[in-house]
Formats: sequence, structure tokens, C-alpha cells
Amino acid sequence: MSDLPIHRALSSASPIVYGCMGLGGPWDTGDITRADVDTARRCIEAALAAGITVFDHADIYALGKAESAFGAALAESPGLRERMIIQSKCGIRFADAQGTKRYDLSPEWIMASVDGSLQRLGIEQLDILMLHRPDPLMAPDAIAEAFSRLQAQGKVAHFGVSNMNAPQIALLQRAIAQPLVVNQMEMSLLARDAFEEEVLAGHRGGASVNFGPGLIEQGVAGEIQLQAWGSLAGGWLSGRNLSGAMPTRQRLAERVAQLARSYATSREAIVLAWLMRHPARIQPVIGTTDAARIAACGQATDISLLREDWYSLWETARGEELP
Ligand SMILES: NC(=O)c1ccc[n+]([C@@H]2O[C@H](COP(=O)([O-])OP(=O)(O)OC[C@H]3O[C@@H](n4cnc5c(N)ncnc54)[C@H](OP(=O)(O)O)[C@@H]3O)[C@@H](O)[C@H]2O)c1
Repeated sequence: MSDLPIHRALSSASPIVYGCMGLGGPWDTGDITRADVDTARRCIEAALAAGITVFDHADIYALGKAESAFGAALAESPGLRERMIIQSKCGIRFADAQGTKRYDLSPEWIMASVDGSLQRLGIEQLDILMLHRPDPLMAPDAIAEAFSRLQAQGKVAHFGVSNMNAPQIALLQRAIAQPLVVNQMEMSLLARDAFEEEVLAGHRGGASVNFGPGLIEQGVAGEIQLQAWGSLAGGWLSGRNLSGAMPTRQRLAERVAQLARSYATSREAIVLAWLMRHPARIQPVIGTTDAARIAACGQATDISLLREDWYSLWETARGEELP
């Protein structure tokens, strides 16, 4: 198991995170079903068997039902909790009687959201609470106060963010007493802005990439643990039907398959290993609900891509040579 830089306090953190967005059935206000709980249990068991101990939630996944299904599965096997690091997110609100879709990092919403997550998950404490998206109306001092209260009440152990740029993180961190330990961003072979930004300084093409200058370097420096959402690239490079897809994507999927054969591993493992090879030691968050695919993802921890293979995947994904 790799030594993740920022999770020193969370010694059982795995290099891969299981993303729970696909649990809980449809995104509606109905009740969870027996089948939803069984799916959650199957995914939890497959993840733990693959060495994955970190579970990623958000208050909004399946409108709360992802946490409810997960919580119901945990209630049936309470011993599993101590083998897990559970993280959840707050701050996105969908259109409702009070207003349109909006982000809400007010202390009232943060506190209420944590109570809701804990209740649905049936646990006493979140290991990590993340602010899901930046809210232009956020007040860092008020967030800092909410975090301190949540920590003092024992409801949250650690804090993080998601989809934030480096200045936003710095602004928050100046006010918040606790270290922000995680930033979760979209990254994969099909979402490569983080890496393009590293090599396109001073190039015209650099204007079209937007990851957020400095974020990947924060990860390399061990200041914050980067997690990659969408890390499996939606399965497009590991078995999803590509008929009608762009030739570049087809060539990339073929290259992934070739490398899977030469490393004697799964295609999923190659896709994830591309992120994990980066010195930021990016933690991929995988969203599959298929037990065989979860096991295939777990194989990523057994390989390390050669520099030449890492670059060949990147060039194939770009469809052109690096500058
Ligand atoms: N922080 C954020 O703003 C944010 C945003 C989005 C997601 N997330 C987190 O990141 C996690 C992963 O994100 P994600 O689910 O968007 O991306 P992902 O892991 O790249 O893709 C997972 C999706 O791809 C499908 N898939 C994988 N392999 C496939 C194959 N061979 N054939 C067909 N379908 C295949 C899965 O379906 P099956 O279930 O059928 O395998 C699932 O729907 C989420 O669960 C969530 O925890 C965070």
C-alpha cells in the first residue's frame, strides 16, 4: 500500500477510493429498496476485498439514498465500519421550494448537511467532510467556526474540499484551524487538464486548459491529497462499447488494452495506474457498481507504469505529440 502524503493521520487510507455515487438507486425522493441495500453491500465487500478502505459519499448522491443504502448495509454488518474511512461532501443544493439550484457553504447548511449524512449513514463521525464546490457567497470565517464546532462535537475528524482552485483553498485555509487534507477534482486519461497545464506554460494551447495552476504541485509537495473523480473515464477505455466514438478514443482504448496484456493486468488497472504513477500520488475515486470491475480496479496497486508507457498513453490520448 502506498504511503499517501496527507493521510498520515488516516493510516488505513488506501491508494484507491470507492465512490458511492452509483448506490441508492434512482435520484428521486422514494425509499431505498432491498435491492439497493444488497447492491451497496456487494460493492462494499468487493471494495474491501480489493484493498479499498476509503468510501466517498455526498449528501446529494441519489438525493441522500446512496448514504441511506450504504448505512443500511453497514447496520447489517456493523463490524465493517472500523475497516473504513468514510468521507462525505456538502454544499450543493438542487432547486426546491426555497429557490433555484445553488451552492450553499453557509454554516447552517454545513451543520444540517453533516447531521443528515451521519443519520443516513448510521455512524457517529465522518472521517472527512469535504466542501463539494466553491460557493462564491462563502464566508471563510463562518466556515471555520462551523468546522471547529463539528470537530468539537466529534461529528467530523478531518476536512477537505472538492473542485476548488489553489487561491480558494488558500483563502479558506487562512481562516480554518484544521488542515484541509483533500481536494477532489476530475482527472483521468479523458480529463487531462492537470497534466496539460504542467507542460503548456507559455504555449498558446495552454489557454484552453483549466485545472487550476498550482493544484497538482500542492499534491506533489504533500500539502493536500488529490483525489480524482471520474477516474475510470466512465469505462470508455476499459470495455464500454466504442462504436461511433472518435478515432482518438478508439486508439486510446486499444493502447490501454495492449498495455493491460503486457503488464498482465486489467484495462481498469492501466487507466487508474496512469493517475497513480504521477508523483502527486493521486487517489483515483472509482464509481463502478460492478463487483468484477471493482476487483479489476484493485489490480492497479500491483503495477507501476514505465515512464515510456505513461507518456505513450498521454500522447495517444492527446492525439498528437507533446510540444
Ligand atoms: N467531487 C465531485 O464533484 C464528484 C463528481 C462526480 C463524481 N464524484 C465521485 O467520483 C466517483 C466516480 O465518478 P464517476 O462515477 O463519475 O466516474 P467513473 O468512475 O469514471 O465512472 C463510473 C461509471 O462508468 C461506468 N463503467 C465503468 N466501466 C464500464 C464498462 N466497462 N462498461 C460500461 N460502463 C462502465 C460505471 O457503470 P457500472 O456501475 O455499471 O460499472 C459507472 O456508471 C463517484 O462515485 C463519486 O463518488 C465526485
